[in-house]
Amino acid sequence: MSEADDLAYGAGQRARWEAGRSASAESFRAAGVALGWEDRGVGDSYAVTAEFYDLLQADEFRRLAERLIRRWLGTPEVGVLDVGAGTGLATALLAEQAGVVVHAVEPAGAMRAVLLSRLAGQPHLLNRVRVHAVGVQHVGLKAVADFAWCVNTMACLDPLERAEGLAAMRAALVLGGRLVVQRPPHRLEPPWELPSRRLGDDLYTGQVTCADAGPGKALWRFVYRVTRDDHVVREARESFEVHLAEPWAFADELRAAGFDPIAQDEKEIVVALARR
Ligand SMILES: C[S@@+](CC[C@H](N)C(=O)[O-])C[C@H]1O[C@@H](n2cnc3c(N)ncnc32)[C@H](O)[C@@H]1O
Repeated sequence: MSEADDLAYGAGQRARWEAGRSASAESFRAAGVALGWEDRGVGDSYAVTAEFYDLLQADEFRRLAERLIRRWLGTPEVGVLDVGAGTGLATALLAEQAGVVVHAVEPAGAMRAVLLSRLAGQPHLLNRVRVHAVGVQHVGLKAVADFAWCVNTMACLDPLERAEGLAAMRAALVLGGRLVVQRPPHRLEPPWELPSRRLGDDLYTGQVTCADAGPGKALWRFVYRVTRDDHVVREARESFEVHLAEPWAFADELRAAGFDPIAQDEKEIVVALARR
């Protein structure tokens, strides 16, 4: 098959799959069954990263989350929204500290698997968390929270998804509700190393490089290695398309979605209030 045939075949397959998908999705919806199919792309992502995420990134993230939650959570009375809950690091902290339901929104199956395992290991949290297996732009929650948390996630959303996602967060919040959100990055970052961890005799490491992927986009490549006696015994890779936004442009997007930015915190954190 030539490359052109291959592309045409792929497009035909995709069209047939899309047609089948909407027909079946329609019948499931009619029966009131929630489908996450719109998120099929992101649903499959983090398949490699989920395994290494907590081992290599939890300590640093937990320190940041604990500090931000201490400073900004207050005492929610309606509910909490955790957008891009990932492996549930912040979800568990929020559920421990807020006496209301935490809506954890996480479209990627691999990350959700870790999130659910974390919750399963903490039975006292089980009735405080509701998991939504869709992208935030499809979550459809209305006035269920007075605190929303979206850290380390915005970069995954393209500009349209970002606008829809912010509008969905606004809809999920009651008037005056507080949003703590990490802005998307606005430039390419130099390569960096994730904190390494020893597990038995093995050393787990992770490297991240960042490449230009066209206007407003970057490709973040994660390489995970397991080393024993200075020999690499395993290597796994995953790349993510990351969407960039200038800080001022993101502030405008927040306003357009019905938020008033009121404060900044370090690590690109913006605090905003839901307005009418
Ligand atoms: C880098 S991880 C961060 C997870 C968690 N917030 C943390 O900091 O540990 C980004 C998460 O956002 C999720 N995500 C991607 N697109 C999303 C969307 N449209 N709505 C909600 N979450 C999304 C990914 O599946 C992933 O779990």
